[in-house]
Amino acid sequence: MSKITAAITAVGGYVPDYVLTNKELETLVETTDEWITTRTGIKERRILKGADMGTSELCAPVALEICRKRGISPEEIDLLIVATVTPDMVFPATANVVTDKIGAKNAWGFDINAACSGFLYALDTGARFIESGRYKKVMVIGADKMSSIIDYTDRTTCIIFGDGGAGVLLEPNTEGFGLLDSILKSDGHGREYLHMKAGGSARPATLETVQQREHFVYQEGKMVFKYAVANMSEAAHQIMERNQLTADSVAWLVPHQANKRIIDATAHRMGLPDEKVMVNIQKYGNTTGGTIPLCLWDYEKQLKKGDNLVLAAFGGGFTWGASYIRWAYDPK
Ligand code: UT7
Repeated sequence: MSKITAAITAVGGYVPDYVLTNKELETLVETTDEWITTRTGIKERRILKGADMGTSELCAPVALEICRKRGISPEEIDLLIVATVTPDMVFPATANVVTDKIGAKNAWGFDINAACSGFLYALDTGARFIESGRYKKVMVIGADKMSSIIDYTDRTTCIIFGDGGAGVLLEPNTEGFGLLDSILKSDGHGREYLHMKAGGSARPATLETVQQREHFVYQEGKMVFKYAVANMSEAAHQIMERNQLTADSVAWLVPHQANKRIIDATAHRMGLPDEKVMVNIQKYGNTTGGTIPLCLWDYEKQLKKGDNLVLAAFGGGFTWGASYIRWAYDPK
């Protein structure tokens, strides 16, 4: 029997309606549209408004779009993996909330917390369940409501992040399409530069932690930037070498959207021209788990069967990595 690989057979995405522009941020913190645009490439980001609206509200429309496009019912999903750092609650997992909201009665699920590399970690994990032969339909969603952990008085972080999510359906393939390789890395030492100080078991919420604004993203941007450029581009370069891929044979780089300058550095290391790089940071900012699948969602119509895609990410943890996918279908 030929080897089973996990092919992406449908893509879905969702971004909330509210658009937070650089102009509006100028009214909240001391910044300018010009600074944000030149330092990050971001023009606007989406924000999920409304009481009791968590990350599951971003995931449910994604899952339903995927089912609709693939022509399946949610009851056919075997497993749902959600990559997020902004779960609806500490427990249960957001995947459980989503399966309930969409009526995926036969699915089990869990969340993966790997920050901006979460989608790569979840995709590789989901693929294992397909490759084992045990599961036929595994859904992988990356989504974050970053606005729930962003301090809108901190100009160094509030300009970067946004809310949104997207995902894919994985199904067995025996013709060599799908996820073919991944390099996944982590280094816990990097937690020093990017983390949320309170709200976990080490420092549970108290009046003091709230007053000290410790329930928001803490980031030392310059350090994170340095490690991101070095590690994301190195992982992307390594996955090309390991799979004998060249700048000509790679159709697309699908990079995490944290900063346009990090994306450019990664593309440069791979020898890729701008036309082969997916970029939507200008519209959504950094949606953490959502960035890579949101790129696939935006560019789906341009993808052709047999295209070689390199996905690459770097984020909190530190976590980073790169994946090699051979795209399984032509535009519909
Ligand atoms: O996705 C998860 C991983 N995260 C990342 O990959 C993010 C990586 N880091 C970055 O993208 C960049 O470091 C930032 C966008 C966060 C910051 O850009 P930077 O070019 O590294 O700026 P900087 O921190 O070196 O700051 C330069 C100057 C400083 O002023 P002085 O000290 O030179 O007077 C900052 O205070 O820019 C100032 N600054 C701002 N000015 C206007 C910082 N934020 C702002 C702002 N508006 N929003």
